[in-house]
Amino acid sequence: MKYTEEINKRKTFAIISHPDAGKTTLTEKFLLFGGAIQTAGAVKSNKIKKHATSDFMEIERQRGISVATSVMTFEYKDHLINLLDTPGHKDFAEDTYRTLTAVDSVVLVIDSVNGVEAQTRRLMEVISMRKTPVIVFINKLDRDGKNRFDLLEEIEKELSIQLHPVTVPINSGRDFKGVYNLSNKSLALFTAGSKDDNVVEIKDLADPLLDKMVGEKDANILREDVELIDGVYGELNVEDYLSGKVAPVFFGSAVNNFGVKEMLDTFINIAPTPRPRSTTKDDIKPEDEKFSGFVFKIHANLDPKHRDRIAFLRVCSGKFSRGKYFKHVRLDKDVRFNNPYSFLARQKDVIEEAYPGDVVGLFDTGNFKIGDTITEGESFYFTGIPSFSPEIFKEVINKDPMKTKQLEKGLMQLTDEGVAQLFTQHGGNKKIIGCVGELQFEVIQYRLLQEYGASAQLNSLPFYKACWLTSKDPKKLQDFVRFKQANIAEDKDGQLVYLAQSEWFLNTEIQNNPDITFHFTSEIHK
Ligand code: G4P
Repeated sequence: MKYTEEINKRKTFAIISHPDAGKTTLTEKFLLFGGAIQTAGAVKSNKIKKHATSDFMEIERQRGISVATSVMTFEYKDHLINLLDTPGHKDFAEDTYRTLTAVDSVVLVIDSVNGVEAQTRRLMEVISMRKTPVIVFINKLDRDGKNRFDLLEEIEKELSIQLHPVTVPINSGRDFKGVYNLSNKSLALFTAGSKDDNVVEIKDLADPLLDKMVGEKDANILREDVELIDGVYGELNVEDYLSGKVAPVFFGSAVNNFGVKEMLDTFINIAPTPRPRSTTKDDIKPEDEKFSGFVFKIHANLDPKHRDRIAFLRVCSGKFSRGKYFKHVRLDKDVRFNNPYSFLARQKDVIEEAYPGDVVGLFDTGNFKIGDTITEGESFYFTGIPSFSPEIFKEVINKDPMKTKQLEKGLMQLTDEGVAQLFTQHGGNKKIIGCVGELQFEVIQYRLLQEYGASAQLNSLPFYKACWLTSKDPKKLQDFVRFKQANIAEDKDGQLVYLAQSEWFLNTEIQNNPDITFHFTSEIHK
């Protein structure tokens, strides 16, 4: 197969949602359609169990299993689909944000009962920043959820995205009868648990068959709904979807496999093939002949019997080949990979080659950090891989002065993996770790001891956010840093960071210092 055909065959995306909205269930249905799994429940068993929140080893064990499903590759109607999994557990939110840098589009699942939830908002911030195309799946229509129009309005308002309904639901909960597809003017009737949507072709909305199938009352409500939607939304413009301006919306019930195939069919028609990516040089296009890619995730196994790290590399251009020498840009070193593997659901296969859009798993002994770029000789970095402000901060107290070097090395390596962020007090030596969830601190403490022999105590600090500081006026920045000494730290790259005690403090400083910009994210390479 020709190289461009390989690229155009691929669609790389992620399903994202607030925990419990139905991401795992939807993933499973996709895989069933793609023939990648045979039975329902295969993915579900890999999901990090909700209840295992206090035992991080148990969570890590489950995460270890879920590495196999980190990338699920399946074929559907002549397309090769790479579905990247994102951890649902909120303590691993950073992992999810970074995975979003490796996809070309996303499917956002919203629970029709709960509407937009906290995690959804954060995820959408990342999506909007990158202008990633989004398809919305409103799930659990078999339950009594919010009114369909209220939901659409809530999503548009809360997530600052324009929606475009492709299907319209007929009732919800016990009275849920199905969905009407605005684009192909068909009616899919809901039968709980059926494998295929029961699709009825109707000539148009005036067709008496509609009344016969859903009843006169619901048929009339549907006619009004469609008139309203047509008036407000008009035709779906695929270009607007591709540029991240408009999100097509589907209604359904993942667990009942309803509305899923309808969405998957639209997805393969409109979702982007591998897209160009920006770098510190020019944009890299997938068709560029020379290979390039970047590491967006590193998974370390905590099980001492399997002390392996896997770096996840997204191929951006050219062809990745097993055993061929490539350049590790940050280390300025030639490297080759003898056992790279692909992730075909449930099993890891050594691969000979990979194309743009693919994700390759590389065994790593500590050579990689998040954001590393691998090329066929050129020197540049992929940009737009963000670091977000942590939400919990702790000071590292060295409990064993004989192991100072080990502690430092451990802190550097673990933060390279993206487990946490490391800050150093400005003008001092105090080391501060920032994470999104408590769980990470336990992981860090455990790994420092197990892998580096370093024993550290972690003391809570009263900060709630870190903001990266820049200013066009160096003098003003210097003054601010001097006055706010106790709240200033540096990140690993020496960038100045303001650690805020509370939202009130942060807003006050932002207001009082108009010449200083407070950034809520920082890019690994600019
Ligand atoms: P997540 O990955 O986003 O966290 O969600 P997941 O798919 O695990 O779904 C969360 C719960 O919602 C599951 O129930 C799942 O069965 C249910 N669910 C998913 N889609 C639908 C739907 O369309 N309608 C209804 N009514 N429920 C749905 P659970 O009780 O937590 O797990 P399980 O015991 O059913 O596996």
